[in-house]
Amino acid sequence: MSTSPFAGTAQYYAKYRLDYPEALIALVRDAFRLDGRGRLLDVGCGTGKLTIPLGRYFEHTVAVDPDPGMLCELGDQLRRGGEDSDGDAAQAGTISTLLARAEECRPQELGTFRLIASGDAFHWMDRDRVLCLWHRMLAPGAIRDESSTKSGIAIVGTGGGSMSAPADWQKAVWDVIRRWLGPERRNAGWQKDARRHEDVIKESGLFTITAVGAVPATHVRDVDSIIGFLYSTSFCSRSLLGENAPRFEEDLRRTLLKVEPSGRFLEEVSAGYILARPLAVSSGRSE
Ligand SMILES: C[S@@+](CC[C@H](N)C(=O)[O-])C[C@H]1O[C@@H](n2cnc3c(N)ncnc32)[C@H](O)[C@@H]1O
Repeated sequence: MSTSPFAGTAQYYAKYRLDYPEALIALVRDAFRLDGRGRLLDVGCGTGKLTIPLGRYFEHTVAVDPDPGMLCELGDQLRRGGEDSDGDAAQAGTISTLLARAEECRPQELGTFRLIASGDAFHWMDRDRVLCLWHRMLAPGAIRDESSTKSGIAIVGTGGGSMSAPADWQKAVWDVIRRWLGPERRNAGWQKDARRHEDVIKESGLFTITAVGAVPATHVRDVDSIIGFLYSTSFCSRSLLGENAPRFEEDLRRTLLKVEPSGRFLEEVSAGYILARPLAVSSGRSE
């Protein structure tokens, strides 16, 4: 049995998680002057919400994730033509998948990359260790030429998704989650290391941050889509609820419609990004 906190979430993930805004993808493309050459490594790729739109700008992409269900869903999408929300098809042959944790990636096996990206996944990793590995996997030319902006890392994410700056309906959702799953947020071990991503990157001494920002977006959900979103998460997956899932759904539906009888729930999201390029360090430093 899979011990992944995302076990059983992949289908919900593909359907109910928002795509990254096209403006964010364009921003990464322009910042690194992506032109269809080189290789992309997407770490913690999930169902490919970042892999597919960003992969368009590379010759080849390696998409890594430790959850077999996530990779299976990505593989299905690629076989179907990998259309993202803009209807752009991914070139299935140019994306390969690898079942592994970020910490298990071996630079000597994977080779070098022009860009290493991670969407909503860096917080799950041993970030200090992973930054050392990533530094070794960036094309050596880019590291020698510190003025180069054509290579580096892109950490993007929705910072906790729709639940980070809660509206009234979102507070009500958390009340229902606590009723059924207890007061502590589940699968939140990553919260123990409270350092901001920016600080971890700076402390590594291996990268210099070139851009930090966020692309805001607004979205309207209905009750079914909120349930689908929750089942896509590690903190309220269907497998955590087990046989209580139908009663949880009933409770959530009733509670949400009490807060917002129209059944339309406005969700403010913010797709954040941190871009960084590798620094030249004395040999052995990034081992
Ligand atoms: C919230 S999902 C993000 C998926 C995708 N990148 C996206 O932006 O939609 C987090 C992903 O990180 C993966 N993950 C968790 N721990 C990881 C680790 N140590 N190394 C690599 N990926 C990990 C999970 O399996 C999951 O697919």
